[in-house]
Amino acid sequence: MKLLQLLFIFLSFPLFAQQGGMWIPSLLEGMNETEMTNLGMKMSAADIYNVNNASLKDAVPHFNGGCTSEVISNQGLLLTNHHCGYSQIQSHSTLENDYLQDGFWAMSKKEELPNPGVTATFIVRIEDVTTQVMTGITDAMTEAAKQKKVEENIALVVQNSKKESWQENRVRTFYEGNQYMLFVVETFKDIRLVGAPPSSIGKFGSDTDNWIWPRHTGDFSLFRIYADKNNRPAEYAEDNVPYTPKHFLPISLDGVTENDFTLVFGYPGTTDEYLPSIAIEQVINTVNPARIAIRDAALAIQDKYMRADPQIKIQYASKFARIANYWKKWQGESLGLTKSDAVGIKKQQESALTAQINKQGKQKEYGHILPQFEKYYTEIEPYTLAREYFLETALRNVELLRTAFQSYQLKKVYEARGAQSFEDRRNNLVERLEGQFKDYSKQVDKDVFEALLTIYAEGVPQEFLPDSFKTLNSKAITENIYKNSAFIDYASVKNLLEGDAETVLEKLNNDPGFAIVKEMADAYYEKVAPKYEALELSISGLQRDYMKALLELSPKDARIFPNANSTLRVTYGKVAGYSPVDAVYYEPLTHLEGVIQKYVPGDYEFDVPQKLIDLYNAKDYGQYGENGKMPINFIGTNHTTGGNSGSPAIDAHGNLIGLNFDRVWEGTMSDYYYDPALSRNIMVDIRYVLFIVDKYAGAKNLIAELKLVHPKKGKEKSKKKEKKKKK
Ligand code: ARG
Ligand code: GLU
Repeated sequence: MKLLQLLFIFLSFPLFAQQGGMWIPSLLEGMNETEMTNLGMKMSAADIYNVNNASLKDAVPHFNGGCTSEVISNQGLLLTNHHCGYSQIQSHSTLENDYLQDGFWAMSKKEELPNPGVTATFIVRIEDVTTQVMTGITDAMTEAAKQKKVEENIALVVQNSKKESWQENRVRTFYEGNQYMLFVVETFKDIRLVGAPPSSIGKFGSDTDNWIWPRHTGDFSLFRIYADKNNRPAEYAEDNVPYTPKHFLPISLDGVTENDFTLVFGYPGTTDEYLPSIAIEQVINTVNPARIAIRDAALAIQDKYMRADPQIKIQYASKFARIANYWKKWQGESLGLTKSDAVGIKKQQESALTAQINKQGKQKEYGHILPQFEKYYTEIEPYTLAREYFLETALRNVELLRTAFQSYQLKKVYEARGAQSFEDRRNNLVERLEGQFKDYSKQVDKDVFEALLTIYAEGVPQEFLPDSFKTLNSKAITENIYKNSAFIDYASVKNLLEGDAETVLEKLNNDPGFAIVKEMADAYYEKVAPKYEALELSISGLQRDYMKALLELSPKDARIFPNANSTLRVTYGKVAGYSPVDAVYYEPLTHLEGVIQKYVPGDYEFDVPQKLIDLYNAKDYGQYGENGKMPINFIGTNHTTGGNSGSPAIDAHGNLIGLNFDRVWEGTMSDYYYDPALSRNIMVDIRYVLFIVDKYAGAKNLIAELKLVHPKKGKEKSKKKEKKKKK
């Protein structure tokens, strides 16, 4: 067995010795099931996904389109991350009842809080519809004709596939257009907030600890799904009832130790595991450095003001966290790509593929792909760079520019779709801006604007800059705009956007904030976007053919998994530590001791609630502690990405053992290249979640709903019994 495995690894390297993997739950039989069993899984593929009987997939809904969640009681109790429920927790918070700061616990169902707009979407059925979608596609067709036919076929599949009236059919592509799957889904719309720990637990360590191991965060929150009297999806109504799930996850109290099997089930958003080496080089050398430099500047300015002014601290907390999250990730990613030599490894794989293409006489079909990647990526590089600068400056990190850009789009809407569309869009914008300006500081934004304008003018290749930017006096422009533009407070923007389309557009043209964004956007849409989009289209066609070649020419049992696309996936592995640098080994489990070690009284990131300190001092851990210690977080080799937040970590038997919420710094390059030595996902130990609910919050009502099990202790007990019998 061992020898065969070795032989398999040897044979398939270097063409495709891919590690990690996010697998389609309906296709686990065979290779995946064997691997999982070898890792210690005691379930079958049919326990994970089954159309006819309840299975794990029936307990794992997509949470609000971006995160994952899991049902943990027969009354629709739903667990996800604190950072996934953050804006709901925030929206119910007031100065008197600050649930973000103090936590929230519904002690009865009556106290649960509705959240209009929040959804939980279950997968009813998955079907391979590749044949239907590919019908009528021929090699002779142009790229555009193929695209059109595929879209028509998808519309037919969506229309004709069987579903109940309250369900929805969705078709998604896998392997960049080489496979198509139908998802029949069911979306619940009455999702109520049940519980959340204080941020000093749920967000402990905040940005300093984000993407970092060792970690000590209780990143969880609780919701409940409500349904109509027939247990079907319904809009919020007071007399809706708790949803009865087809399946809910039992919770193991036995914890994890190194090498235990783990399975993470969820909705990973996007990965790019099959880019050619030249694309990875551009991520490391061009894309990430530009993004990081821009955010370096924005964050330094925000941080300075936040530290000096508690009001600004509150206003910018969430914006700062959003900008800092990916800023930090990109840095870890670039380091990891370099350290794991992802480019070198991809180059080896490309040589192996070329050899295989030649050996099998496939030059005509696939011989052009790698050279054309070279050509297109070289051509697109300056356009990519200009695009990144534009997006990061005008759309993401300067609030005045973003608002002005949204007004610029109004102009485009009017030109393309007329007065009514303009009206709708404008009203919508004005409504959104009211909330946005509550957290606006002109002073902070002005400094960010000036810094980013300078970086933009220096970073964008000359030929793509607006003409006036070639000699730019950032200081004078900034002073003028932040003195004379209407985009600096709500009342004046509202006023600016009042009137019919013609009037508004005329007023916009006289606004200096609008003028500058118009220059930047015009330059982008005239000089960058057309060429960028044309090259992108060619690259995506190549990427589809490259994927086809890999699927066709790799050994039959090669581990080739489709990139993440926000559909339900299974990833599996084991609990494992790692060595980030020579002489250092990181253990896979953290404990409450570590929270106390990091404790900085009054600090906004590392404060600890007194009640938690008291429980620690008394070692009052109830049934949740282990050997006198309270476990907090653990890491494993599961291949996850953004969107897997809130995903259940499941043991060999199908019980919940943890809650996924992050990845380790050294391993974040796994979106491009998963390195088994360094890539680890971070999970909250489920015992810490229960300890907080029970001992910290006293919400015994919730504990009473759960099904708590002892899969390991049960086994030990029965072993002991057997021994006794034998004696
Ligand atoms: N890094 C995690 C993720 O990508 C957590 C982000 C939320 N926490 C934070 N400190 N920003 O979503
Ligand atoms: N925190 C991420 C999320 O919100 C998960 C971490 C990751 O990117 O792996 O989905």
